[in-house]
Amino acid sequence: MKAVVCPRYGGPEVLEFRDVATPEPAAGEVRIKVMATSVTSGDSRMRAARFPPGLGLIARPFLGFRGPRQPILGTEIAGVVDAVGSGVTRYRPGDAVIAFPGGKMACHAEYRSVAETGAIAPKPQSLGYADAATLCFGGSTALHFLDVTTVPPGGRVLVVGASGAVGTALVQLAHHRGAQVTAVCSARNADLVRGLGADAVIDYTTTDYLGEPGAYDVIFETVGSVTARTALPLLRPGGRFAAIAAGLPDMLATIGAPGRGGRRVIAGPAKEIPAYIQQLADLAVRGVLCPVVDRTYAFGDIAAAHAYVDTGRKRGSVAILLDPAAHG
Ligand SMILES: NC(=O)c1ccc[n+]([C@@H]2O[C@H](COP(=O)([O-])OP(=O)(O)OC[C@H]3O[C@@H](n4cnc5c(N)ncnc54)[C@H](OP(=O)(O)O)[C@@H]3O)[C@@H](O)[C@H]2O)c1
Repeated sequence: MKAVVCPRYGGPEVLEFRDVATPEPAAGEVRIKVMATSVTSGDSRMRAARFPPGLGLIARPFLGFRGPRQPILGTEIAGVVDAVGSGVTRYRPGDAVIAFPGGKMACHAEYRSVAETGAIAPKPQSLGYADAATLCFGGSTALHFLDVTTVPPGGRVLVVGASGAVGTALVQLAHHRGAQVTAVCSARNADLVRGLGADAVIDYTTTDYLGEPGAYDVIFETVGSVTARTALPLLRPGGRFAAIAAGLPDMLATIGAPGRGGRRVIAGPAKEIPAYIQQLADLAVRGVLCPVVDRTYAFGDIAAAHAYVDTGRKRGSVAILLDPAAHG
């Protein structure tokens, strides 16, 4: 099969199309013919070794010194089951599915095998493959940080970076859970986030939004522009600062006793919980969570998709279609 390989860290030009072995589904696994995938901020970071501040030296022994240990990037897919291993009972060839191998990656390829009990769910019929392929990265990150921060009913939350993949999912899911959502994004994305459920929108390019002490129950920070030192005073007593794009200093701030007033910092990788994928599919079927796809590229143009994601300016997600006919 064809796969996109990242043999060393660098710009989008390091990516190469190569013929690699097509995975055989092991016992309990299904093999998915990939119809669509995505290029996420995670893929862009991994390709470029652009790790959050202070984490480069710590990350390389785990992720690879000169290039990614898993050279085929890509965290999420939508496709069709084309073969099943022994003992598989939940899926059959022909089933349309979404799957989230997440940090194990290897989705920028024509086929990907996953455990039938893993992060896989039937594709919502209402979504085309490109939309469906972008549900999981932002969606599961949002679910994790919502679950670990427990926003009180009617609580006030601030979402910094509300127009990104994680931010657009957070706005929708926090609104669905009954929170009062203030979204921080630039003016060009204000209508988008209002349409997703934001009650108030602040344009970070013209307005200082860091001056209202004790205003929020939870601050979700997805850009890396606000640190714990600035964010903690903006929280109500008992509030949580979810540093989703945290560098090392905010990760260290999660250790030890809560700060004054019981305010806490929460950071680190989102847990990849298989049940989240069915939950996201259900939320999409009910129209609670709508994928926001900024651009769709053909598989052959994946380097251009990386270059666009590298700008840090995408709205929602960037999808990759492997089969140009695979819209349904
Ligand atoms: N902890 C975890 O497990 C985890 C999981 C997933 C992602 N992440 C991290 O979370 C971060 C966000 O990921 P993502 O995929 O959502 O990113 P993304 O989609 O690339 O975010 C792009 C958006 O950020 C907005 N933006 C840029 N600068 C901003 C600022 N100063 N204030 C407010 N908005 C700003 C841009 O809007 P404008 O163009 O209008 O500025 C754009 O819409 C990344 O750093 C990623 O690595 C962490």
